Amino acid sequence: MPMLKYLVIYASETGNTKKVAEEIYKALPSKKDDKAIVDVRTWNGSLDAENYFIGFWANRGSCSLEIIDILSSLHNRNVAVFGTCGMGNTDSYYSGLAQNATAWLSESNNFLGSYFCQGRMQESIRDKYESYRGKCDDAKIDAMLKIYDSALSHPNREDFQKARYFVDRCVKKAENLVTA
Ligand SMILES: Cc1cc2nc3c(=O)[nH]c(=O)nc-3n(C[C@H](O)[C@H](O)[C@H](O)COP(=O)(O)O)c2cc1C
Repeated sequence: MPMLKYLVIYASETGNTKKVAEEIYKALPSKKDDKAIVDVRTWNGSLDAENYFIGFWANRGSCSLEIIDILSSLHNRNVAVFGTCGMGNTDSYYSGLAQNATAWLSESNNFLGSYFCQGRMQESIRDKYESYRGKCDDAKIDAMLKIYDSALSHPNREDFQKARYFVDRCVKKAENLVTA
């Protein structure tokens, strides 16, 4: 199996995480034939790399089984995780998502870092919040709707810029591991 320098694998149901994954892929400094990007739906395990960027969307606070399978199959690799989520727009929410994912990584890997941003949610989620009216505290519902609305414009240019900085940090960290 040829060893790539960088491999981006992502899960994306409605396209948000795919956009971030593509930005990450473009920002990777490698030559075109030394890096690859794969949708987890077409992943068949036929590629391997020194550095993995694994992306997912938050699904009830965690990642999907396919992503867990990949994370737990990695050994002696450099691994970064990234993704999008609807509700969380705080660093503590993002680090919780990173922790839930990296819990599946074996200790033989080097963790390079994580990057998360908000991603537009499907309209059915807004409808669900609205349907709680009368059953739930209005202030709570309004707060959820506010977060829903704030997610509508994401991922945006600033999120992509941050994703590129994230790539720079990870690449530097991986390079330092080689020389250390
Ligand atoms: C079934 C379902 C569960 C979700 N669970 C969460 C969650 O636990 N936390 C969160 O912040 N967002 C949650 N979301 C919102 C998505 O993670 C968010 O919209 C994400 O950007 C979707 O990414 P994608 O377009 O790559 O599929 C959920 C969405 C769906 C449809």
